[in-house]
Amino acid sequence: MASENKPHPRGKTVAESETVQFQVVMPPHLNGYGKLFGGQLAVWIDTVAGIVARRHCGGKITTAAIDNLRFHEPVAQNEMLVLHGRMTHVGRTSMEVRVESRVEDSSGNRRLINTAFVIQVALDGNDRPTPVPPLILETDEEREAFARGEKRRRFRKLQNAYF
Ligand SMILES: CC(C)(COP(=O)(O)OP(=O)(O)OC[C@H]1O[C@@H](n2cnc3c(N)ncnc32)[C@H](O)[C@@H]1OP(=O)(O)O)[C@@H](O)C(=O)NCCC(=O)NCCS
Repeated sequence: MASENKPHPRGKTVAESETVQFQVVMPPHLNGYGKLFGGQLAVWIDTVAGIVARRHCGGKITTAAIDNLRFHEPVAQNEMLVLHGRMTHVGRTSMEVRVESRVEDSSGNRRLINTAFVIQVALDGNDRPTPVPPLILETDEEREAFARGEKRRRFRKLQNAYF
């Protein structure tokens, strides 16, 4: 089968793939103590990151790694979660997506409960890594996030030697 990923000569901006997803915590999402199950949050994070990556590369992707899955506070049934995914860095075939998860209360105030970095890899028709479009950086914040992404990428390579 031919590659699903189409070449993108110009590249894509961060805004073109940015994705926000809302979730309400319901009974099937709870652990034995009645709080949001961490594995469920990981599913939602991975899903949002996958959507961002697919919108950026325009084709098939797979998750290579999820970094920094630390749970700052419990989330209760019926609370509303807002997951915000943005492309922070691209390599040759890999894409780093930052997903911030917040609880939104009834007044619209949001509190951050998790920040994760998900590495997605673009795949060709043979399920082998394939090049991704460049990331067009439009703001100082995006340039700063990209520079930090470079550092995380070097850090991951060092870390991989120990796993
Ligand atoms: C991800 C996968 C396609 C990488 O294949 P590979 O043969 O290691 O390919 P490469 O060595 O060419 O790596 C491809 C890219 O992925 C990156 N990568 C691979 N493993 C990584 C890891 N553990 N963490 C971060 N990045 C990783 C590489 O740095 C490279 O990025 P670059 O092209 O931007 O430089 C392969 O390991 C795989 O299919 N894993 C299973 C994925 C899966 O099933 N996910 C679902 C969750 S269970």
